[in-house]
Amino acid sequence: MGTVRPVAYLLGFGGYAPERVITNDDWAEWVDTSDEWITQRTGIKQRRFAADDESTMTLAADAAAVALKDADLTPDDIDEIVVATDTPEMMTPDTAALVQDRLGCRHVPTYDLGGSGCAGFVQAIDVAGSRIAVEPKRILVVGVELISRMISMKDRATAVLFGDGAGAVVMGPDEGRAEVLGVVSGTDGSAAEILTLAAGGTRNPFNEKSLLSGDYNRLVMDGRKVFTEAVRRMSEAAGDVLSKVGRSLNDVKLVIPHQANKRIIEAVRKKMGLSEEAVYVNVDRFGNTGSATVPYAMFEAVRDERINEGDLVVLTAFGAGFHWSAAAVQF
Ligand code: ACO
Repeated sequence: MGTVRPVAYLLGFGGYAPERVITNDDWAEWVDTSDEWITQRTGIKQRRFAADDESTMTLAADAAAVALKDADLTPDDIDEIVVATDTPEMMTPDTAALVQDRLGCRHVPTYDLGGSGCAGFVQAIDVAGSRIAVEPKRILVVGVELISRMISMKDRATAVLFGDGAGAVVMGPDEGRAEVLGVVSGTDGSAAEILTLAAGGTRNPFNEKSLLSGDYNRLVMDGRKVFTEAVRRMSEAAGDVLSKVGRSLNDVKLVIPHQANKRIIEAVRKKMGLSEEAVYVNVDRFGNTGSATVPYAMFEAVRDERINEGDLVVLTAFGAGFHWSAAAVQF
């Protein structure tokens, strides 16, 4: 089943994209690829890469600071922090602890939701919503990835897909800008091997052998299976969450899908019978930023008034695991 019904509000929205823009033509200088290939297969035109003095923690904290300001809150107001990431600052401790210190929050509990790939942020909304339902508190929820430093920049089949970035929300029990009406989440662990970054785990520890074989940063992906499952799970999860909260697609102003590539988004749109205006797309400008795509897209959509008061919005995400998670959010 894997579903809960949180009652929580979104109080503020934030995002951070590193300044350095990497175009497809840049990639064509580094590996055997072309703007035409990348555009046709993925719809991606450019992505952002973090600067040398940035890290997962700084990206997360920068997005969180924007969300706090947007919510008119200070770090003192935060009671808990959850960071969804597959590219953490280090193996231990969690990135969330470092974000707490960076922002100057009180010594509140923090934890990472790691390994859920691109579904991590919506899963984190699910977890945070349940936490708020049992004990009223304000939770900072961040989705962040610094993928450019974790996967092989020589593997054209995977490297050109990704970018770095972060998105954040502040969640709370009080009346806010939007209410999370419900979330559905699920996992199919039998599909785990279809998309893995085993590097640094106990199966494939960092050592001389993994360094020499190149395993230390190898992202293993069956692109076609990922494609098919992503389309199926994201559209089904979006439909399921609407049924759960007693609403229909006709009520929905905007669907914000995980931004893996434009063809996946298009297939989800067609499967759900949605118009182009009803689906948010920024993968052309940022590439796939993993668990940051959904919160960053929501931040942009709110900032640019693609989402306004009264709008029903559906977030739907899919990632390694396979995990999927969708949320219905009433603005
Ligand atoms: N530039 C040029 N050629 C390339 C590149 C590249 N960057 N990458 C691969 N190719 C070549 C391959 O080597 C292959 O050549 P060959 O036929 O001589 O062997 C050819 O292009 C076709 O490769 P395919 O893998 O069959 O291409 P496909 O049409 O399946 O597209 C893609 C690949 C874009 C990865 C597609 O499968 C896809 O979008 N899958 C979804 C994966 C995804 O988005 N993952 C992101 C992480 S997971 C997530 O976010 C949920």
